Amino acid sequence: MDASRDTIFRKVLDWYDVHARTLPWRAAPGMPAPDPYRVWLSEVMLQQTTVAAVKDYFAKFTGRWPTVSDLAAASDEDVMAAWAGLGYYARARNLLACAREVAARGGTFPDSEEGLRALPGLGAYTAAAVAAIAFGRRAVVVDANVERVVTRLFALEEALPGSRPAIRALTDTITPEYRAGDFAQALMDMGATVCTTRAPRCLLCPIAADCAARALGEPERFPVKAPKKARPTRKGRAFWIERDERVWLVRRAGKGLLGGMRALPDDGWSARADGHGEPPVAGRWDSAGRVGHVFTHFALELGLSVHLGEFRGDPSVDLPGEGEWWPIDRLDEAGLPTLFAKAAALALAEPA
Ligand code: ADE
Repeated sequence: MDASRDTIFRKVLDWYDVHARTLPWRAAPGMPAPDPYRVWLSEVMLQQTTVAAVKDYFAKFTGRWPTVSDLAAASDEDVMAAWAGLGYYARARNLLACAREVAARGGTFPDSEEGLRALPGLGAYTAAAVAAIAFGRRAVVVDANVERVVTRLFALEEALPGSRPAIRALTDTITPEYRAGDFAQALMDMGATVCTTRAPRCLLCPIAADCAARALGEPERFPVKAPKKARPTRKGRAFWIERDERVWLVRRAGKGLLGGMRALPDDGWSARADGHGEPPVAGRWDSAGRVGHVFTHFALELGLSVHLGEFRGDPSVDLPGEGEWWPIDRLDEAGLPTLFAKAAALALAEPA
């Protein structure tokens, strides 16, 4: 194995020269690096999200905010609304904090891994990815696809996440001094298109001959699965309150789950607890059904209660929290996160 390590990156880069996916935030293999703003934005969006899901958001963001300074000047509300549906909303808040910091420094991203790492909300992965892809720095870039490729290449028997330090160290041993951005993206593309979780296409893999998992005849066994932790289910209710063809929307508290996003009022379910089930105001309520949503640490069953009749109280007195009457025919512009968009769809569904 050791004798072949030096040649692995060559095979990987040769493969990339022919098979690289064409993606809107990328330069073609071997071409000058793309705009760091676009690289950074795409890497933040791609964390925990697939390439297919990100493409439209990337086009929307770069169309509306073509530079990091444009993004920095945008309002929190507009950015959170534009992010709606991508999930993991802390990323959008960090995105904006980072854009503002970069804009305050004149709109230029630091060009080293350490410099990038010091920006707000920029984790080890993103710093390494941007340093390699946008600045051609040698950096060890490990995302979920790379984890799978490297785990198989070396047939690591330890399960994730415990194997991460070993994966990082092994990726370091095969990362070249040059074209580090292409190398990182090559491993990502191999993971996405060849070294897939199920039914890997080893016949198409440029490093199949080097692959220890393949030599064992069982590439699919890797990465070894840790026994699954049960995901608890929480229950909550959201509330639909109408007046004059408008619905009452609140803004969720800045930190925490779906923080800073517009939402339907709810009964206080959170990362820690079930909701208490109580509606925000007295009156007659009807149940419109329930929606399910899976968060990282728990699954949620959210019932939707609809206030019967028009709300006639004074919202600033009778409804808790800050909110606004949002036109129902423009609800798709409210930037509701997916959970609340699903609940709203229930309220708007024609009665059976
Ligand atoms: N996933 C995360 N970053 C990526 C990139 N630059 N190309 C393809 N997939 C990715």
